[in-house]
Order: sequence, then structure tokens, then C-alpha cells
Amino acid sequence: TQTIFSGIQPSGTLTIGNYLGAMKQFPELQDEYNSYFCIVDHHAITVPQDRLKLRERTRSLAAMYIACGIDPNKVTLFIQSEVPAHTELAWMLQCVASVGELERMTQFKDKSEGQESVTAGLLTYPPLMAADILLYQTDIVPVGDDQKQHIELTRNLAERFNNRYNDIFNVPDIKIQEVGARIMSLQNPTKKMSKSDDNQKATIYLLDDPKRIEKKIKSAVTDSEGIIEFDKDNKPGISNLLNIYAGFTNKSVDQIVAEYEGKGYGDFKTDLAEIVSNYISDIQQRYHELYESEELDDILDQGQEKANKVASKTLKKAKKAMGIGRVH
Ligand code: TYM
Repeated sequence: TQTIFSGIQPSGTLTIGNYLGAMKQFPELQDEYNSYFCIVDHHAITVPQDRLKLRERTRSLAAMYIACGIDPNKVTLFIQSEVPAHTELAWMLQCVASVGELERMTQFKDKSEGQESVTAGLLTYPPLMAADILLYQTDIVPVGDDQKQHIELTRNLAERFNNRYNDIFNVPDIKIQEVGARIMSLQNPTKKMSKSDDNQKATIYLLDDPKRIEKKIKSAVTDSEGIIEFDKDNKPGISNLLNIYAGFTNKSVDQIVAEYEGKGYGDFKTDLAEIVSNYISDIQQRYHELYESEELDDILDQGQEKANKVASKTLKKAKKAMGIGRVH
């Protein structure tokens, strides 16, 4: 069987962008693949975090994975910082990557632009991500569209390492959803929806209540034309809402456009708010049951143990190939 790996940063409450772009496909894949899902707390500290909030969000994200349909008996769910091989291999891959290629990453450029001080970790974030993926000999990485460039870099680093030292790593492929790969901000539909957006109205969180969801969708930026059709360039607002509608109903955008022919944005938004609320209320219920449970700790303990076993095996091979440490 093939292996999949994906990670999410505990840098805020999950958004419907995270869900539709990534999380939604995980339960569909877990039966078919040997699956690893990671809470990447080392990635989160590339920007300042409040320590208590970070800890809480790490636990919250673990509960959210399961609430969204991950079965801990089928997958390995674990916290990145509890598997030290990740940072060790990340260092080794930093010595394979060049500063130039890291500086060319659009996420680095976006996050560092206009900042007075940027951490070195923000620059070396992609080799850590490559380490996450390569340690498990991953075949497929299911992610949203914004991670494309990082996966491409991961492939390059794997190939470079294999050519330069020894054929250690599997070179992974990316898997992107057809609908939902890029959910945009409700307030600025040319910008992606992000869990760390300061404008709360721009983002629907998986823990929002129905009232808040309705408010946010009703105030979502559209256009003055009032015709429901998909045109990403000229009508980015309504096109984004159509994508969200499609993601939560599994209907095609064409089908939805046909259903709303002759209707206005008001009706459409009212229906969409109800669809999103109903869908995520099940997730929320499961989430709240899990968050406080001891079961969650048992699951993460098991995940840590299993991930460590697999990761340390690959790390050992990579160290040997590079000539680090003694040969046993
Ligand atoms: P993160 O935490 O920003 O996002 C988690 C997942 O959600 C996807 N995503 C979106 N999809 C659609 N529309 C959006 N607006 C949207 N926003 C986020 C992301 O593409 C991602 O799949 N670097 C990664 C975390 C990571 C990782 C990894 C992922 C670390 N190591 C190894 C895969 C494999 C990140 O910051 O995701």
C-alpha cells in the first residue's frame, strides 16, 4: 500500500478553507493508504506564538482531526515536536537546500514582506516540511493549492539528496482537490482564507456558531451585478461562495448555478449559511466530546510511538548516507 502524509499548523482555529482544501479528503483516503497526519507545532513557531494558546491549539487540532472523520485506529496521528527526527532531518536538508531557492518561496516572501524582523525559521520552514514528508517514504501529499511550491521543493530536495548521497527517499506526488483547493477570504476574495487573518469577518472557523456563520456569509463581498455565475476573474466573490457551496454539498458548480437561475445573492447566501452550519455542527459536537477526553492523550501517545519508529529508521539511513555519526 502507498503512504500519504499531511500536516496542519496549530496556529489558529481551523477554517473552512483548511477543511475543504485538505481535511475533507483525509477520511476518504485513510482506508486505502497507510496514513500519517501531523500537528506541525514546530512550523507554528516560525512566527511568534503565545505559549499557552499554542498548547491549547495543538490539542484542539488533534481533536479536530478526529472530529472531521480521521479514525485513530487506521491512521497515525501525532505531534511533530514529539518526533525529534523531524528537526534532525530538517537540519540535514537545510544543508542540501540553497538560500536562493528558499528566498524564492512565495509564502516566505508574503510572510516576510514589510516585517521589521523575520525569523531564520521562516526561511528554513520548507526543509522542515520536506523532512516531515520524506521521513515516512511518502507517496502522496494531500494539501491545498497554496502548498504546491513547497511540495515541488520537497521533490527537488529529495532528488538532490538521492543523487548526491544515496537513494534514500521516495519522491512524493501532490494531491489537490478539484473543488476547494483554494478558498478565498470572504472580505477580499482575491486573497486566500487564512486561520491567521486579523479580520474575523473574512474567515469562517470550524468552531463558529450558526449566527456568526450567517452574519459572515451575508456580509461576504460580492459584486453589484446580482447574477449567480462562476467567473473567477470578474466575479471572484460569488465564485468563491459557489466553491464553498459545492464543497459542502458535493454538487458541481454548474449544477448549483442552474439551481439558482433567476435567484438573487440574498437567497443564495441564506441557503449557503444553513448548509455550512448544518454540516459543521456535527463536527463541532464530536470535537467538544473529544477535546477534554483522556482518549485523546492515548491516541497521541500511540501516534508518537509509531511515528518515532518509522521516522528514526529513515533518519538512520539518511545519516549513514551523509556520513554523520558512527556506523553501527
Ligand atoms: P496550513 O496549516 O496553513 O494549512 C493546512 C492545510 O489547509 C490547506 N489550506 C487551504 N486550502 C484551501 N483554501 C485555503 N484558503 C486554505 N488555507 C489552507 C493547506 O494547503 C494545507 O493543506 N505548510 C503547511 C503545513 C505542513 C505540511 C507538512 C503539509 C507542514 N508540513 C507536510 C503537508 C505535508 C501549512 O502551513 O498548512
